[in-house]
Amino acid sequence: PATERVSSLMSQMTLEEKVAQMCQYVGLEHMKTAEKNMSAEDLKHSHAQGFYPNLHSSDVEEMTKKGMIGSFLHVVKAEEANYLQSLAQQSRLKIPLLIGIDAIHGNGLYCGSTIYPTPIGQASTFDPALIERMSRETAVEMRASGMHWTFTPNVEVARDTRWGRVGETFGEDPYLVGQMGAATVRGFQTKDFTGNDKVIACAKHLVGGSQPANGINGAPAELSERTLQEVFFPPFKDCLDAGVFTVMTAHNELNGIPCHGNKYLMTEVLRNQWKFDGFVVSDWMDIERMHDYHNVAETLKDAYRISVDAGMGMHMHGPEFYEAIIECVKEGTISEKQIDAAVSKILEVKFKLGLFENPFVDLKKKDEIVFNEKHQQTALEGARKSIVLLKNEGNVLPLEASKYKKVFVTGHNADNQSILGDWAMEQPEEHVTTVLEGLKAISPETNYNFLDLGWNVRLLSDNQIKEAVQQARNSDLAILVVGENSMRYHWNEKTCGENSDRYELSLPGRQQELVEAVAATGVPTVIILVNGRPLTTEWIAENMPCIIEAWEPGVAGGQALAEILYGQVNPSGKLPITIPRSTGQIQCMYNHKFTNHWFPYATGNSLPLYEFGYGLSYTTYKYDHLKLSEASITPDKSVKVTVDVTNTGKMDGEETVQLYIRDEYSSATRPVKELKDFARIPLKAGETKEVSFTLTPEMLSYYDADMHYGVEKGTFKIMVGASSRDTDLQSVILTVK
Ligand code: IFM
Repeated sequence: PATERVSSLMSQMTLEEKVAQMCQYVGLEHMKTAEKNMSAEDLKHSHAQGFYPNLHSSDVEEMTKKGMIGSFLHVVKAEEANYLQSLAQQSRLKIPLLIGIDAIHGNGLYCGSTIYPTPIGQASTFDPALIERMSRETAVEMRASGMHWTFTPNVEVARDTRWGRVGETFGEDPYLVGQMGAATVRGFQTKDFTGNDKVIACAKHLVGGSQPANGINGAPAELSERTLQEVFFPPFKDCLDAGVFTVMTAHNELNGIPCHGNKYLMTEVLRNQWKFDGFVVSDWMDIERMHDYHNVAETLKDAYRISVDAGMGMHMHGPEFYEAIIECVKEGTISEKQIDAAVSKILEVKFKLGLFENPFVDLKKKDEIVFNEKHQQTALEGARKSIVLLKNEGNVLPLEASKYKKVFVTGHNADNQSILGDWAMEQPEEHVTTVLEGLKAISPETNYNFLDLGWNVRLLSDNQIKEAVQQARNSDLAILVVGENSMRYHWNEKTCGENSDRYELSLPGRQQELVEAVAATGVPTVIILVNGRPLTTEWIAENMPCIIEAWEPGVAGGQALAEILYGQVNPSGKLPITIPRSTGQIQCMYNHKFTNHWFPYATGNSLPLYEFGYGLSYTTYKYDHLKLSEASITPDKSVKVTVDVTNTGKMDGEETVQLYIRDEYSSATRPVKELKDFARIPLKAGETKEVSFTLTPEMLSYYDADMHYGVEKGTFKIMVGASSRDTDLQSVILTVK
């Protein structure tokens, strides 16, 4: 077994060789690109830029040969992975390298892989089995490309949409985030990640980065014990229950203590309370930031010591950690036992993944696996299920090709790869179906006029707007594909994604002007939003007849959108996050407390634009006969909730039935609604199905006024329906005696 092999290997290792296993470096190609692109001045201050002054890719090669490195990240080619492994084979103990990458919706940093919808779109499917399948396929593509560890799922609960990374999350609801996170872990790791097509997953970022001060990535999070226990911790716990083997700490401080040096998080909660049995990895340069940003460590060495002592198992990128930790052990400020605890877990992974047997990949086999037909089909299914129809006034959709013969298409996201989202580099053109290409393929008889506005959503000229108006006037219909751009490596153009936070969430640039100008022509106009986070599109919601939230649907996104527009596919996505009316409404979540909307002193409409769980279809569903198996139970008992759902329209469809509860009176305040379960069900036109849920004591439990976890006696409102919107829900009362 792996554990015996680990002990035997560790008995032969020097302290230096052990600490080396805790050291991770960025891949050579990545470093070389930075070396080429960064000015000498930048390189001098490169700590701030995420690199080390005077550290060159050639040094890293030498260190690998000497066995001073245990892991790499962002190795983006199978050839590079094989090369690095061959260097590691020259070291004394020939310990293979563990290679990690951010494969968060497909292995997107690898050119040529299958790119699925980004996590916010994945969550819109409300289909954990599908998420598990996408993750499994991504794992298989990763292993074929020499990568063994994905830095996903991001199970932060997105409570401030100014934060640019919302699209990497599964939205605002702790239950949904936990379900999707656990499905991701199951897909990547399966039961215990033994075998050569498995990949270890990483639940991140512990914790609070999704509710940062001012919505800024890495800004402080001040979260009460109650909020941590009720909102932020549960999704991590769900991932742990699914067996996640690594956890990444967050850039930010939590209640005054940087997460990277936070013993409460890494040791007390993770190890002692939750019995975490894997290892913790730092985020890029965040241990260093304890010294030069958070200023809680006078020297870098102090920062490394504090972090490892708090429970850190691996350091992401940079040479200084190695020497510093060896010195700390020699001085006795870190015990060798602490080092052994981390190293044994890292080696366990390498044994279980089969890397000691064969650290190399077969480049020929890789080509058969990556972006294969089956994976492309799953990406298409994911895109179809993730797209959310927000508005369809007058049933303009689905489009009739015979009615709309001349169609004008424009918008920054209409004909490029921004549909791929963050953590993806540009893919081979033939792999990606843009929206325009999808339309042409699905309705070849339509005459499409396209106006190219370029990638940059911030740039739009008077002439371009004039030209758009002109072309719209000469058309039967306009399709505007607007939104944001979160593509990595479009550093000057992106408005969304990692480190692209915004203070204001309307359409960037002059896109709103474009929409209003085209709408003023009177031509029926369909708005497609391609974006990584909710945008405050109040004018559009009130004035445009058809609106589709596509998120960032991946390589097959253009095809899926066209199929939906022309009615070949019935839309079925539901929002995993509330779309606010204005930026000032943030935090704008369905599961707020009653008093969030108590005093109507603020001017304006306090309701969001679109509620959590909302999404239309081309058919209609009716909910009937909501009932409980028992109206009254004791706190230790479960109750069955049933409802009849009928497809009352003319088209087959899939509906996500949602179960919410509200604890009516409680010793500590409760949210007005909490999602407790959901079921995505296919329903043929005219068909009725009985859907049932089991409401368990666990689902009714919470932390009472004294922070005791359990079920309080009293009444609960049990709500079932098509979204969290009051008008979409039916309710019954359950009494707990
Ligand atoms: O995994 C990521 C993390 O989410 C943000 N910083 C960089 C890491 C590695 O790419």
